[in-house]
Amino acid sequence: MIPQADARSIPTDAPLLDALAVRGVSRRGFVKFCATITSMLALSPELIPQVAQALQSARRPSVIWLPFQECTGCTESITRADAETIEQLIFEAISLDYQHTLQAAAGTAAEQARQDAMRANWGQYLLVVDGSVPLGGAGFCTIAGRSAADILVEAARGARAIICVGTCAAFGGIPAANPNPTQAVPVSQIVRDKPIVNISGCPPIPNVITAVLVQLLTFGELPQLDHLGRPKVFYGESIHDRCYRRPFYERGQFAESFDDEGARQGWCLYKLGCKGPVTYNACATVKWNGGTSFPIGAGHGCIGCAEPGFWDRGGFYDALSVTHTDNLEEIALAAGAGVAVGAAAALLARKKQHAAARAGDDGAKGELP
Ligand code: SF4
Ligand code: SF4
Ligand code: F3S
Repeated sequence: MIPQADARSIPTDAPLLDALAVRGVSRRGFVKFCATITSMLALSPELIPQVAQALQSARRPSVIWLPFQECTGCTESITRADAETIEQLIFEAISLDYQHTLQAAAGTAAEQARQDAMRANWGQYLLVVDGSVPLGGAGFCTIAGRSAADILVEAARGARAIICVGTCAAFGGIPAANPNPTQAVPVSQIVRDKPIVNISGCPPIPNVITAVLVQLLTFGELPQLDHLGRPKVFYGESIHDRCYRRPFYERGQFAESFDDEGARQGWCLYKLGCKGPVTYNACATVKWNGGTSFPIGAGHGCIGCAEPGFWDRGGFYDALSVTHTDNLEEIALAAGAGVAVGAAAALLARKKQHAAARAGDDGAKGELP
């Protein structure tokens, strides 16, 4: 958890490197971090000095973080309570002016802190949101007597950009799952006049959030986004595209149960419900827990947690089907080829991505206001 008193002991206008030095991060560690982030952002290694230079002189941006209908999983992921990492340190080095799950202040003092930070940084602060926003009437997710939607609209007005952390904020997520009793909606359904970056996942990969923050800090621009508002550099390929079990898939070697010989041999988990062919996220490359593993590496299929509506798209343990398509050619392909259902589903997902990109709502890269 972020030690609030420590974070506040670093002046808001302190350069980032100074703030990290206070935390004992060496220059060597800082340069290594810059190299990692530059590579994650798919930038040329020649840009490492530029990233380091820009970060060194970057001022700590004010960040207002609004948790709404969420489970704290996203916050837990980002703060990486399991280990003190440089990602955690850089996160602490921003000026986190309001996060009611983490901050020491409560009640009136907490709300006052948010109002003060907004007033002092109007037009400049980054607004981070995790959790969905209920529209189902008074009483759902009310903070200090005000509805989540009301607080979001007010905070968005003075924000430079909005970062939606997690599938709940990005797409509605679990609170919006059928029958959606609170009428939960994503941030983008309420705020339409601000740049929004969706970092989906339930929860999202912490390093991805760090990389997006670094890009905003160093280049002052939003990353290129896909048709769902997600940074293309992390969501441009499916889990299936980069999965190390893919050769087993291609050879038709599938685990049939979680304790059979195929599972022991590390065969493909497609028949056990893996949604990797239709899920776009960087888990197979960036991985989790300091880059050690990801769900498929741990022996469980991807449940598609970075995609809209993942909770309502059939059983987590049911193999993918393409019967939701009305394209007869695709259905025939899938039905005729047995295990090629996964390939057909992947093909369909990719076609949808490309169609949406061609529709013109893609490539939202640009200077921040
Ligand atoms: Fe929790 Fe998942 Fe929603 Fe994050 S996206 S708040 S982890 S349910
Ligand atoms: Fe990997 Fe799942 Fe694709 Fe199999 S179906 S190769 S386990 S992503
Ligand atoms: Fe989620 Fe699938 Fe990654 S379940 S964590 S997108 S492997």
